[in-house]
Amino acid sequence: MPELIIAPSVLSMDYTRMDQQLRDLEHSKAKWIHYDVMDGHFVPNLSFGPDILKQFRQSTDLFLDVHLMVTDPTFFAPVFVKAGADSIVFHTEALDNDPKKVKELLDEIHKMGVKAGFSVKPQTPIEPFLDLVEDADLVLIMSVNPGYGGQSFMPEVLPKAQALKKARDKKNPNCRIEIDGGINAQTAKAAKEAGVDTLVAGSYVFKGDIPAKVESLC
Ligand code: DX5
Ligand code: ZN
Repeated sequence: MPELIIAPSVLSMDYTRMDQQLRDLEHSKAKWIHYDVMDGHFVPNLSFGPDILKQFRQSTDLFLDVHLMVTDPTFFAPVFVKAGADSIVFHTEALDNDPKKVKELLDEIHKMGVKAGFSVKPQTPIEPFLDLVEDADLVLIMSVNPGYGGQSFMPEVLPKAQALKKARDKKNPNCRIEIDGGINAQTAKAAKEAGVDTLVAGSYVFKGDIPAKVESLC
């Protein structure tokens, strides 16, 4: 099983203190930064484009985990790879939930030299995609409806982590199982018990003492 990784989501950063918060992250146990890209179409909200990612790339050596909540991930994946992403995760729903199209984009992203993964919204079943753990470096389970930070965790998605863990252990032990939405010390525990090894957390981490908050998720 891959070691536990905490990926704070910069969607919840205090943008008046970005530099300080980035330094706090570097002094915490977080190894990744989770970067949410929203296009106002796939989800009803807008966030950051590639230029801001470039500036994160210049300011930190932390791993940049890019989560594309966009209608056209095939167009945007290379844009964010060029801007400095270390991994690209896109949504199956943006590719008609077609496992063949999902595999093709995973392969395209790998050709660009970065890690590749796919994500499913809470209502999307994981079964059609279980075999793709062989082709992915990570699978991201959404535990809220994507679009906003600060929502409540949906425990009904946890069986997806259990199913993925089974498939992953059999087919590709290095594939990470990541969860995103409503993670705090309590829900992190439930997620880890279900097989999750990569925890995204936004509002929980950026309210209060960042290194202590990250530590409480470990
Ligand atoms: C939601 C984003 C999340 C968000 C999580 O659509 O994908 O990454 O930042 O925020 P919290 O941890 O506050 O639920
Ligand atoms: Zn996210």
